[in-house]
Amino acid sequence: MGKFLENLHRALVLGLFLMVLLVVLLHRSSVGEPAWAGYFLTYVHVFVGILWIGLLYYFNFVQIPTMPKIPAELKPGVSKYIAPAALFWFRWAAAFTVLFGLITAAVKDDIVLTLEARAPYTTIGIGMWLAMIMAANVWFIIWPNQKKALGIVKVEDAPKAKAARIAMIASRTNTVLSFPMLYCMVMQGAALNIG
Ligand code: HEM
Repeated sequence: MGKFLENLHRALVLGLFLMVLLVVLLHRSSVGEPAWAGYFLTYVHVFVGILWIGLLYYFNFVQIPTMPKIPAELKPGVSKYIAPAALFWFRWAAAFTVLFGLITAAVKDDIVLTLEARAPYTTIGIGMWLAMIMAANVWFIIWPNQKKALGIVKVEDAPKAKAARIAMIASRTNTVLSFPMLYCMVMQGAALNIG
């Protein structure tokens, strides 16, 4: 088993297989029905959302606070290898979270209106706006500035340091916004019951 799990792709296929197995065992009679499809879209949405916010928390809880403690000669290990790989998954997970979030909203007719944050969907409406601000932050502020900060785009030292700071503050802003955003995502279901 250890040998099998050494390969990431095999581990991912195994996870997917176990999920499909549960679908067959638990819900085979409802697969394909609109209600099942709606919930399954939410599942995909939450999956990519975890990938996105998980990497946001990796940057803010681990990488950014640890960088100053890393000896100068070891820093390129992070800036040239780890950070670019993490940023790849980070920005695409953000894009796919928005995509599947909006498809989920469109499938659940009432929710599509919530971009107007209209009752009884005010909660998810606010969450969707917060998450879209966060995704715009990723693509239009964090990523362009990280490209300069990590040397993917070559700039002088002063603009490089400025870009690193802008990216860091934008990333912190997203960490702050993630708390109310996630509250809204999770509590919409409850809001329909508790008002
Ligand atoms: C622009 C981005 C996003 C949009 C448009 C969006 C949209 C939605 C929609 C429409 C729902 C279904 C609500 C319901 O059925 O009551 C939902 C649920 C949810 N979303 Fe998002 N979302 C976004 C970002 C995120 C992010 C970043 C996360 C982080 C993990 C997330 C996590 C969740 C969770 C946990 C649920 C609750 C599932 C449930 O309890 O049924 N969403 N989202």
